[in-house]
Amino acid sequence: MSALSSTLSPAPAHILARGVCVDFMVAGRVNRVLHDVSLSVPKGGFVSLIGPSGCGKSTLLKVLAGLLPPSAGEVSVAGVTPIEAVRQRRIGIVFQESTLLPWKNALANVAMLMEVAHVGRSKDEIHQRATEMLRLVGLEHAAQKRPAQLSGGMRQRVSIARALALDPEVLLMDEPFGALDAITREEMSEFLLEIWERTGKTIVLVTHSIDEAAFLSREVHVMASNPASIIEAMTIDLPYPRNEGSYAAPEFARATARLRRLLKEGHRHAAAA
Ligand SMILES: Nc1ncnc2c1ncn2[C@@H]1O[C@H](COP(=O)(O)OP(=O)(O)OP(=O)(O)O)[C@@H](O)[C@H]1O
Ligand SMILES: [Mg+2]
Repeated sequence: MSALSSTLSPAPAHILARGVCVDFMVAGRVNRVLHDVSLSVPKGGFVSLIGPSGCGKSTLLKVLAGLLPPSAGEVSVAGVTPIEAVRQRRIGIVFQESTLLPWKNALANVAMLMEVAHVGRSKDEIHQRATEMLRLVGLEHAAQKRPAQLSGGMRQRVSIARALALDPEVLLMDEPFGALDAITREEMSEFLLEIWERTGKTIVLVTHSIDEAAFLSREVHVMASNPASIIEAMTIDLPYPRNEGSYAAPEFARATARLRRLLKEGHRHAAAA
C-alpha cells in the first residue's frame, strides 16, 4: 500500500457487519427481517440506529451482541465473532427495560457480572470496582438501595455501571432511555456523552429520538423496514465536546431536519409494504 493510500484509508472497523440478513420462521413461512445490512463503526465511534418501530433495530443489535446468529453475512467485533467477543468480555449491553435483580442493592447489581464472570478478583477488589463504577455514574450515595427504591433514570445508570464494570471495549444499548421523561432523558444523554468522552468506548445506540441520535452520535444510521435495510448513514457535523448549547447549533437543526425527512420516508416505506 502506498503512503498516500494508507493516509486516505478510513479507520479500521471495530464493529463490522457485511451483508447481514436475518430470517425468522413465522407460521411455517420465512419472514426476512434484515436484508443485506452493512455497518462499520471505528474504534471509539458513536453510532445510533434509528427507524420505524418493528424495522429491525433490536434484531441488528442482537446480531452485533452475539445473541442472534445472522442467516447470511458476516459480523466481527474487535476482529473476532460477536460470540467470541462476548466470551472475552469485550461487549457490554444495556437494554431498555431494567434487567437489574430486584432483591439486590445497586452495589450488588453492579458487582454481579464481575462475580459471574470469575474475573479473578477478590471479593474486596470486586466491591471496590463496583463502588468506583457507581461513582462514575454519580450514584455512590445510592449503593445500598434496591432497584424499587431508585428512579427509572437511576436504574438505567446502575445498568450502565454494571455494563461498564467489566471494562468492555464496546457498549451496545437498546433504547436505554426510552422510558424516561424528556428532561431526564436529556440529562442521561449528556451523562452518556461524558462517559464516552472519558472512556473512549465504541458505542452503538438504538433510539427513537431524533434529537438524542443527533446530539450523541458521530453517525446516525437510518433504517427502513420490510425488510429492514440502512437507507442512509449520516455523519453529524457537530463538534465535540457537545453540551446543552449544541441543541441550538445550526448543524444540529440541519441534521435533525434531514433525519426527520428520512424517517418519514422510512415510515412511508413501512406503510406501503
Ligand atoms: N424471535 C422472533 N421471531 C419472529 N419474528 C421476530 C422475532 N424477533 C423479532 N421479530 C420480528 O422482526 C421485526 C423486527 O423486530 P425488532 O424487534 O428488531 O424491531 P425494532 O426496530 O427494534 O422495533 P421497536 O422500535 O418497536 O423496538 C418485527 O417485525 C418483529 O415482529
Ligand atoms: Mg426494538
